[in-house]
Amino acid sequence: MHINDLDTPAVLIDLDIMERNLRRWQAHCDALGLANRPHIKTHKIPELARLQVGLGAKGITCQKLGEAEVMADAGLDDILITFNLIGAAKLARAVALARRVRLSVVCDNDVVAEGLSAAFAAAGLRLDVLVEVDTGAGRNGVQTPAEAVALAERLSNRSGIRFAGFMTYPPKGDVERPRAFLAEALALCRAKGLEAAVVSSGGTPDLWQASREGGVTEHRAGTYIFNDRMQMQAGSASLDDCAMTVLATVVSRPTHDRAILDCGSKSLAADPLGPGLGHGHILTYPEAVILRLNEEHGTVDLSRCIGRPEIGERVRVVPNHACVVTNLHDRLWGVRGERVEAQWPVAARGLTG
Ligand SMILES: Cc1ncc(COP(=O)(O)O)c(C=O)c1O
Repeated sequence: MHINDLDTPAVLIDLDIMERNLRRWQAHCDALGLANRPHIKTHKIPELARLQVGLGAKGITCQKLGEAEVMADAGLDDILITFNLIGAAKLARAVALARRVRLSVVCDNDVVAEGLSAAFAAAGLRLDVLVEVDTGAGRNGVQTPAEAVALAERLSNRSGIRFAGFMTYPPKGDVERPRAFLAEALALCRAKGLEAAVVSSGGTPDLWQASREGGVTEHRAGTYIFNDRMQMQAGSASLDDCAMTVLATVVSRPTHDRAILDCGSKSLAADPLGPGLGHGHILTYPEAVILRLNEEHGTVDLSRCIGRPEIGERVRVVPNHACVVTNLHDRLWGVRGERVEAQWPVAARGLTG
């Protein structure tokens, strides 16, 4: 099939770029002696997770039980869930999942620890739990190395769970603070005779600064498979590294300087990049700015463009945030040049936590 045979809007993945992104990062991890545990929230597609593992990833990361269940159904067997699991329904699902894959999870408080411990002890299982630490991102996570080790100690005194190490999602633009935090937590662990076998860190913004410093054992990049304008802004990717584009049609040219695309917030996602930067980069009209998104309309300012698109013309838009685009679509199309080579249902889109 040719790209022209696809109706719009459609999400295209340039296979040459994607494969290069995957191979380059895996080679980098191998050279550093870091385990690669890619976060599958970016693609939510079992075939792509299997490709990552086939290239050398140790296992995968999921943010939700729903994602993990879909991946387990597809044969992925080493899964870390990086989100606190709370409530009887989720705990029952976690137990069922742990019976069929090597599951580990995170925890940053005693309520979560208590729930995991009770559910897994009752099931006669032992679950690996990483203490989530906040090393500057200002999200989940215990706030100091001393608190992290105190929680680790309490985890190791509970039945049904095992303290397995630490997990952090580092703040953008600061690699030193997480390393110092983790190194201090590990030193405190050693002093107390606690073993932290896994120290899991990293994302795509800090991809090329990854290292084992601070005792890090594994890195969990997600977006690196496709990349997007956010990663270009963070300096971890260039336009040439962006594998995902949204194929769209110009449906109206109401004025000389305005075009309307058939991709709005329900296909391009509305994550902002900053004032004046718009909602995506149009490959054939790089000076165009996608000013505004309604649900199905993308309003484009052409005032700075030399050429202008015709009504009916198709354009490819590099999105601001690839992970959210994936979650909006039923399938992604793998293309090589103009040829469509693959289509993947986004099997783990939506779903409960
Ligand atoms: C817990 C966790 N790990 C890893 C990642 C990696 O994602 P990215 O590649 O987008 O930085 C994220 C992203 O939000 C995350 O929340």
